[in-house]
Amino acid sequence: MAKVAVTLLNADWSNLASDIRKIEALGVDFIHHDVMDGHFVPNISFGAYAQECIRKVTKKPIETHMMVYEPQRFAESYAKAGSNYYLIHFESCGNLASAIKECQKYGLKVGIVLNPNTNVEEAEPYLRKFDIAILLLMGVYPGFGGQSFIPETVGRLRQARHMIDRLGVRTLLEVDGGVNESSYRECLEAGADILATGSYVTKNLGSRETREFFKTAHAFRRK
Ligand code: DX5
Ligand code: ZN
Repeated sequence: MAKVAVTLLNADWSNLASDIRKIEALGVDFIHHDVMDGHFVPNISFGAYAQECIRKVTKKPIETHMMVYEPQRFAESYAKAGSNYYLIHFESCGNLASAIKECQKYGLKVGIVLNPNTNVEEAEPYLRKFDIAILLLMGVYPGFGGQSFIPETVGRLRQARHMIDRLGVRTLLEVDGGVNESSYRECLEAGADILATGSYVTKNLGSRETREFFKTAHAFRRK
């Protein structure tokens, strides 16, 4: 079965606790927390304190998506703020191997994120060498929710699926950005284990279609 992560980036932050309750009632598997500092991406979101507040409201695992340069600098503070998974961008680290080691020191399950223009095979040496919990392929260029899905992502997911299966590692494959009614099924078929989505869910929390999305993802069995 596939899992669903929902980002709160575009949730209603004036009613965050109730949005989280609604998302939990839909069957969310991970809370996806998008951290942006205005340098690695042209947008600013939240610091560790915002995640501490989320941690108080939900028991669900939090995957912190770090869209900042040298994210290992914040590993300790996000571990303390309740991160379970710490997703760092391949493109944001001067030395990815040492960044991974540093983050794992704080008990974080580390994931590697690839932007749409980073070749999937760049991740292979790290999947071989380290216990990488998640390989996340971006379906958009990072920085904002509500963007259109880049169609080439489906082929990249297929490529990443074959690579993970060939390596025989337990890394989960995730897609994040532009996942919605017209893209999620092909992402599942291409081999995604986790669908991360924002506006598709947070803008339609009560809809039958959103319930259908969770049901389809949770019922999906890869051939
Ligand atoms: C983009 C973020 C994504 C985005 C997903 O930089 O990493 O998590 O918020 O939002 P949607 O699903 O609306 O594209
Ligand atoms: Zn994200």
